[in-house]
Amino acid sequence: MSTNVSAVFDEAQPCSLSLGDLAYRPAHDTVLLVRPTYFDVHYDINPYMGGEVDGERALAQWRELKRVYDQNAASVTVLDPTETWDAVRDESGVDPERLPDMVFSANHGLATPDGTGVILSRMATDERAGEPAHFAAWCREQGYDVLDAPPHLFEGTGDAIWHPGKELLWGGYGVRTDQAVYDDLAARLGVPVVTLELTSEYYYHLDVCFAPLDEKTVLVQPEAFTDDGLQTIHSMFERVLTVPREESREGLACNCHCIDGETVVLGAGNPRTEQVLADAGYRPVPVETGEFQKAGGSVCCLKLQLGRLP
Ligand code: ARG
Repeated sequence: MSTNVSAVFDEAQPCSLSLGDLAYRPAHDTVLLVRPTYFDVHYDINPYMGGEVDGERALAQWRELKRVYDQNAASVTVLDPTETWDAVRDESGVDPERLPDMVFSANHGLATPDGTGVILSRMATDERAGEPAHFAAWCREQGYDVLDAPPHLFEGTGDAIWHPGKELLWGGYGVRTDQAVYDDLAARLGVPVVTLELTSEYYYHLDVCFAPLDEKTVLVQPEAFTDDGLQTIHSMFERVLTVPREESREGLACNCHCIDGETVVLGAGNPRTEQVLADAGYRPVPVETGEFQKAGGSVCCLKLQLGRLP
């Protein structure tokens, strides 16, 4: 039997969902990366931002990340902001050089359950507001069905994370994304959503403190959540692995991505997190993301998962 309730479960109420009742969801196994052509740190919208970006080093790190995805992911695709620029010029009038965070594709939208469409984001900051137009132009060109942004603030898969293999959405809120957005998403996508309040600016997106590795396992930074939130996480995942606090804060270790249920790509320099993953049977693949961490992002933020078009 499968549940297809488009209900929102607030973590403060006991969650009546059971994993076994949730509908199957095919993997979103196309990884979208955005070329870091305009990447830089020009402003300060999260507590990690600061420092001089070395553009060449950033490009080298991004290329290495792409190489790891090319080797391990089913399909990898790249958005080049110099190409989408013509399509959005009239719409937004924003110079792409003034969209230095566009490389963080996780925030641009959310794939629909079957992966053939995307819901666009509504960015919380003026600094990033122009980015989804580039993503929308690219999606149309590729043939993805582009659905309007919700009426509330919503930063895409930075905050809305699909449960692996299931039609269940985890919804972070409280810093960038409004909790109210999940009513709209649940109704439009026809899926249940479990919301999780983020308690600190250090965990300004769900993907810096919550990384589902497979159907039964999640890697978290517990201090990001309320007690109710943590309890809800424990009620839905059989195994809850913990990232050491310093590695979450200093190395954005939890901002990792389990590509295939085994291979976990994470920022280099997080040896204790690598050990946690290896002890639990995963294969950690560290990649240097230091330049991107100057903007507050690492592996998970640098990719967006989409379905594969026929
Ligand atoms: N500087 C960007 C911001 O503050 C970093 C985004 C990181 N993205 C993420 N999904 N955590 O919005």
